[in-house]
Amino acid sequence: MSATPHTSVPQHLDGPLPMTLPRLAERKCLGEPIVMVTAYDYPSAQVAQEAGVDVVLVGDSGAMTVLGYPSTIPVSTDEMLMLASAVRRGLRTPLLVGDLPFGSYEASDAQAITTAQRFVKQAGCDAVKLERGGTSVARARAIVQAGIPVMGHVGLTPQTATALGGYRAQGRTAERALEVARDALALQEAGCFSIVLEAIPAAVAHALMPRLEIPVIGIGAGAATDGQVLVFHDLLGIYDGHAPRFAKRYADVKAQMVAGVAEYAAEVRSRRFPGPEHAYSIDDDELERFRADL
Ligand code: KIV
Repeated sequence: MSATPHTSVPQHLDGPLPMTLPRLAERKCLGEPIVMVTAYDYPSAQVAQEAGVDVVLVGDSGAMTVLGYPSTIPVSTDEMLMLASAVRRGLRTPLLVGDLPFGSYEASDAQAITTAQRFVKQAGCDAVKLERGGTSVARARAIVQAGIPVMGHVGLTPQTATALGGYRAQGRTAERALEVARDALALQEAGCFSIVLEAIPAAVAHALMPRLEIPVIGIGAGAATDGQVLVFHDLLGIYDGHAPRFAKRYADVKAQMVAGVAEYAAEVRSRRFPGPEHAYSIDDDELERFRADL
């Protein structure tokens, strides 16, 4: 550890205001695009904070990007809570949404409320996200009625990708597009404050937008939505697993990290690191005494 960790982000009186649900709704009304990104730890949260994003999602995509699982299915609530708590410590103004992992909310309303409460109480999340329509609509309603804001997520829902035929775009037939639309409208009616549309044709999202009064965040859903979300590791080029076509890469951070560590390794092996500027000194007489006593 080369620096003392901060336990909280310093408050700046002249900085941006914290994002709230009314401010998010106002963004939609004003037609101002909403920026959402995932984060999974303290440094990625600080990056999101400093970059001025509006909403940070501790996505269960962290199962793959930071925990190395092959899909989002295995990640546990405890693992997600640890990631979300670290993100909380690095954030000040963006709205923090915690993703309810697979198996933590589907069984009953009581299970869904208990898990959502843990994200709020233990990790300091402002809201939670759950996937799918169907039985998730009742779970969303129950969590909202328990006083916790819920973000819905329809279209490609990775937790149930197997049932959807794999990681592929949804809503490419009229029937399936109608199912996606029904799910989105049902989640809105259940009280969700926002909804994610993932991997559906841009024209389907565009046609659906006039029916959705809540802020709609797209990922692979075209440009008509109220905002966009990308996975932190995809947009920065940190994760080298499969990247979907909608994941635009804005940097190549992994290559820079590998180059940095490789250069460090080369300097250690060639004894060019550490140099005198990285070493501590001791007064000559103290060193003399130490040598004599040694
Ligand atoms: O887990 C995640 O990162 C997500 C986003 C892709 C919306 O659900």
